[in-house]
Amino acid sequence: MSFLPFSLPDITSKERAAVDETLESGWVTTGPRTKKFEAEFAGAIGAKNAVAVNSCTAAMHLALEAIGIGSDDEVIVPTMTFAATGEVVRYMGAKPVMVDVLPGDHNIDPAAAEAAVTSKTKAIIPVHFGGQACDMDAILAVAQAHNLKIIEDAAHAFPASFKGKKIGTIGDITCFSFYATKTITTGEGGMAVTQNQEWADRMRVMSLHGISKDAWKRYTAEGSWYYEVVAPGFKYNMTDIAASMGLVQLDRVYEMLEKRRRIAAAYTEAFKDEAGIQLLDVRNPDDHAWHLFVIKLVDGVLSIDRNRFIEELKEREIGTSVHFIPLHTHPYYKKTFDHSPPGFPSALDAYRRSISLPVYSKMTPSDIERVISAVLQILTKFKR
Ligand SMILES: Cc1ncc(COP(=O)(O)O)c(C=O)c1O
Repeated sequence: MSFLPFSLPDITSKERAAVDETLESGWVTTGPRTKKFEAEFAGAIGAKNAVAVNSCTAAMHLALEAIGIGSDDEVIVPTMTFAATGEVVRYMGAKPVMVDVLPGDHNIDPAAAEAAVTSKTKAIIPVHFGGQACDMDAILAVAQAHNLKIIEDAAHAFPASFKGKKIGTIGDITCFSFYATKTITTGEGGMAVTQNQEWADRMRVMSLHGISKDAWKRYTAEGSWYYEVVAPGFKYNMTDIAASMGLVQLDRVYEMLEKRRRIAAAYTEAFKDEAGIQLLDVRNPDDHAWHLFVIKLVDGVLSIDRNRFIEELKEREIGTSVHFIPLHTHPYYKKTFDHSPPGFPSALDAYRRSISLPVYSKMTPSDIERVISAVLQILTKFKR
């Protein structure tokens, strides 16, 4: 039996043909395919502007820059997230103020976020954990009450919705990831989506050296050698090689989502009555991007802990992951910031008990069955 990886990209002959065509075209960096990908991505979400970049991290950095975050500012982030969400705040010299998550779905706790607001708070970055939207009604209420901008970390959440509204149409700027493991991939890639033209223009300029006006066009027939640098920008532009892959992935997004949805439904059915396993709360399975499927071990039921459970799955040739090691526990954040009470009991508890199972469209029915039977076997073997 071969090893079942935790994640695999779903690349078909269509992506390969599209990339090949781009390579043949002679235009390999930002160009017409990137522009097309931006337009189609914005269209898929129903947003006005989409700025394609080379990662979600880049998108979040540009978003914070565009809304004017400065070194005296504070930005609220959940501790239950990936490194990127915290580091982009540090790129601006600002302070990431970490807050706890809700025990049911691992999304930011709006009450904890509100309690963390100070006179320095300028923005909040909700992370749509695993592809399930945060309670955006509550986040919007906090943001409105305290005049905060909302930059959504939607690295897991394309395509996801909150109460029928697509993620990408709710906050001020929403940032998506097309990293290798994500719901659509361009290898590396990201997109910043916003209704605000001024922010979109600023992000576009800053994504390519701070060069004014369509810098990418300077080598085209209609372009010119002349350019002006209006700010010290970054090198975050997406290549047409990546965009051509993204266009095909975008076309296939619902086909791939449907497969993940079925995997999630099969796991839910198999595990929902198991005393040793707790599943995350799901508001509406149809609104979920199903990027992750997390099981949490219930204390006192098994004679082994989470780490051993992961080892047991590995022995059965099944790859897993853990989302996330809470940000405030990492050495850098521990030594740099003072994390005073109330602390992060829910994130720490979730971290201690969580395992992310494989959920990706390349999984076959027998892969799914293998994961289910391995989990059930371990539960039986180590029942107290
Ligand atoms: C919650 C979250 N935010 C941001 C990122 C960063 O995405 P990227 O690798 O596209 O920069 C990730 C990637 O794993 C993530 O899980």
